[in-house]
Amino acid sequence: DWTMGAFRAEAIARIRAQVGEGRVICGLSGGVDSSVAAVLLHEAIGDQLTCIYVDHGLMRAGESEQVVSTFRDRFNIKLVHRDASDLFLAQLAGVTDPEQKRKIIGRLFIEVFEEEQHKIGGADFLAQGTLYPDVIESVSATGGPSVTIKSHHNVGGLPAHMRMKLVEPLRELFKDEVRALGRELGMPEAIIGRHPFPGPGLAIRIPGEVTRERADILRQADTIFLEEIRLAGLYDAIWQAFTVLLPVKSVGVMGDGRTYESVCALRAVTSTDGMTADVYPFDMGFLTRVASRIVNEVRGINRVTYDITSKPPGTIEWE
Ligand code: XMP
Repeated sequence: DWTMGAFRAEAIARIRAQVGEGRVICGLSGGVDSSVAAVLLHEAIGDQLTCIYVDHGLMRAGESEQVVSTFRDRFNIKLVHRDASDLFLAQLAGVTDPEQKRKIIGRLFIEVFEEEQHKIGGADFLAQGTLYPDVIESVSATGGPSVTIKSHHNVGGLPAHMRMKLVEPLRELFKDEVRALGRELGMPEAIIGRHPFPGPGLAIRIPGEVTRERADILRQADTIFLEEIRLAGLYDAIWQAFTVLLPVKSVGVMGDGRTYESVCALRAVTSTDGMTADVYPFDMGFLTRVASRIVNEVRGINRVTYDITSKPPGTIEWE
């Protein structure tokens, strides 16, 4: 009889057997997988674990603070929080190509991670929140030709470059099982039930050049959209929901003045694995409420559209 409680106990025993007295480093992304891996590891080896959270400054509003307070304050996990937003934004200046953005962010992420890892004196093991589908995918990926649509840099997936042995305690689990394990470990629903978020963050939701100003505008619109989704009780029925700040300006009218500001698109889809997706069928009342809140509350946006493209032929993200 297999239960999550039994898995938890076995996984902890296995981690202890593998790691011994060694030191372990875990890259946190704020996502479900690396978060559950970190809490499980902490339960197994306590202060032998240090988590490193490389903050690229392209997270949603309040998310970095939430990651830090959850892990440091609530779970008492040793956590290095490196705010590298200046570095990431400087390197992204003038870059508009989506794959170029991913490359820059992926490279910087590894550089900063290595720097922080050196500062704390290195470690014997690198922990990753690899899941069973990731294992299968990388095996089948060698089986034949495939088309790469997006390079999918994943913040949780560091290459094994540091000559450290890997600890991957979630290797046998599917996503829903990771969530169940997280609940078993007493993790907050805000982390367990969180929508997937791409490693490059808001950079791929700002077609064109990424600037701090545009990231701030996008974050405000995004906050309103997600707030309304939660208020309407729709968060759990949706796979991913977010706003995209378009590199297009439109003319509008506010009071008795003319405006000339950016356009934002709302995106919300249902999916089971992110490979295919359907548009979420909001009612018009909901959409117009979100649109008027965004236009009224966010300076810099004067028009809102709803993306009604499924995947395929669209992708979930715009870049
Ligand atoms: P697409 O846009 O390809 O997205 O339909 C499918 C899923 O993958 C996420 N995504 C990414 N995740 N790094 C990530 O870690 C990336 O570069 C990346 N690009 C897309 C996307 O949010 C969706 O869940």
